Amino acid sequence: MVSQALLLLCRPGFEKECLAEITAVAAELGHTGWARLEADSGFIRFECATADALYAELSPLVFAREVWPVLTTIDALPAADRITPIIDALHSTLGRESATLGQLFCDTAEGDAYRATARFAGKFVHPLRQALRSENVLLPKDKAARPALHAFFPDSGRVWLGIDRPAMRPAWSMGVARLKFPSTAPSRSTLKLEEAFQVFLGTDWREQVGNDHTAVDLGAAPGGWTWQLVRRGLHVDAIDNGPMNDDLMATGQVTHHRADGFRWQPEYPVDWLVCDMVEQPSRVAERMLDWLENGWARQAIFNLKLPMKQRWASWSDIRARIEQRLSGRRYQLQARQLYFDREEITLYLALEATA
Ligand SMILES: C[S@@+](CC[C@H](N)C(=O)[O-])C[C@H]1O[C@@H](n2cnc3c(N)ncnc32)[C@H](O)[C@@H]1O
Repeated sequence: MVSQALLLLCRPGFEKECLAEITAVAAELGHTGWARLEADSGFIRFECATADALYAELSPLVFAREVWPVLTTIDALPAADRITPIIDALHSTLGRESATLGQLFCDTAEGDAYRATARFAGKFVHPLRQALRSENVLLPKDKAARPALHAFFPDSGRVWLGIDRPAMRPAWSMGVARLKFPSTAPSRSTLKLEEAFQVFLGTDWREQVGNDHTAVDLGAAPGGWTWQLVRRGLHVDAIDNGPMNDDLMATGQVTHHRADGFRWQPEYPVDWLVCDMVEQPSRVAERMLDWLENGWARQAIFNLKLPMKQRWASWSDIRARIEQRLSGRRYQLQARQLYFDREEITLYLALEATA
C-alpha cells in the first residue's frame, strides 16, 4: 500500500493544534508533511509521501480523535452509482484476495459545514457495507480485531478511502463519545470523567475502578466527577468551597472539605486523584506531580484548561515539565482532547512505585 496522506479528525476549531502536533510527531519520527487548513472543519489532510511508515509508528495523538492513512481518493462519484467506483478502486489497490477487512466506517467531519454530508454518510454506510460484503472486500461479520476500512466523505461526490490499525481506532467511531447523561448526576461534567476512564483504562474500566476504595476530587462541586467514583463504590474526599449536590452527600460516601485544592493534603494515601479545577494549566500539572511524587495518590486523571492562544505550545511546555520532573521514574502518561472536552485536554498520569 502506498498512501500519500493521513486523514486526521479533530474538534472543530482545533485544526491548527492538530496540524502542529502531527507535524511535530512526524518530525520526531523522521517524516515531513503539510496540510492546507480549513478553519472549523474538524479535519485535516496531512500530505506526506511516507504516510504508511509514519502511521505504522504512530501512537494516539492528543488533538486528533482519529487518524488513518488515505489509500486512495475518488473525486467524482456519480450520484447515480457511487458504489461501483469505490469497489473498483478497492479492488485495484488491494487486489481481489484481500477479503480481510473487519468493518466499514463512513466518516465525516464534525464542522457545521459538514452536517448534510454527515447525514448522507450515515445512510450510505448500509448499502456500501452490503456491496463490499458481496464483493468479498469485507468479512461477512464485523471483526473489531481486524483492520477496518474507512470512507471519509468531504462531500457526497468525493471520498477518501483508507485502512486503519485496530490499536489506533478510537473507542467510539470518529472519536465521538456516545454516552448518555445519567439523570441523577449533578453536572454534565460527569460525562468527561466517564469518557476519560473508558479512553485511558479501556472497556473494563468499571471493574478496575470498582476494585479501588478511595479517591480525592479537587474542584469537585457540584459533584459530577465525584458521582462517577461514588457509583463505583469508592469513598471520595471532595475539595471545593462551593456546595456539593445534596443527593450525592446523602450517599454517605462523600466527605466535603471546604478548602483550597492547591493546599489540601490527605491524611492517608488514596487510590485515585481527580481534578477539574479551573486554574492555570501549569499550576494544576505541578500540583498533580506533587501528589504523585509524594505518594498521596497512585494515579490521577486531571483536566487542563488551555489558553485561547498558544494551546499547542502550552501543552508542549507542560509535557516537557512533566518529563523533566519525572525523569528517572517509570510512569504512564496519556493525554487527549476528549469529545466532551472544550478548550481543554484531559490527562491520565500514574507513577510506578520505587523499589
Ligand atoms: C468545572 S468546576 C468542577 C465541576 C465538577 N468536576 C463536576 O463534575 O461537577 C470547577 C470547580 O473548581 C473549583 N475550584 C477552583 N479553584 C479551586 C481551588 N483553588 N480549590 C478548590 N476548588 C477550586 C470551583 O469552585 C468549581 O466548583
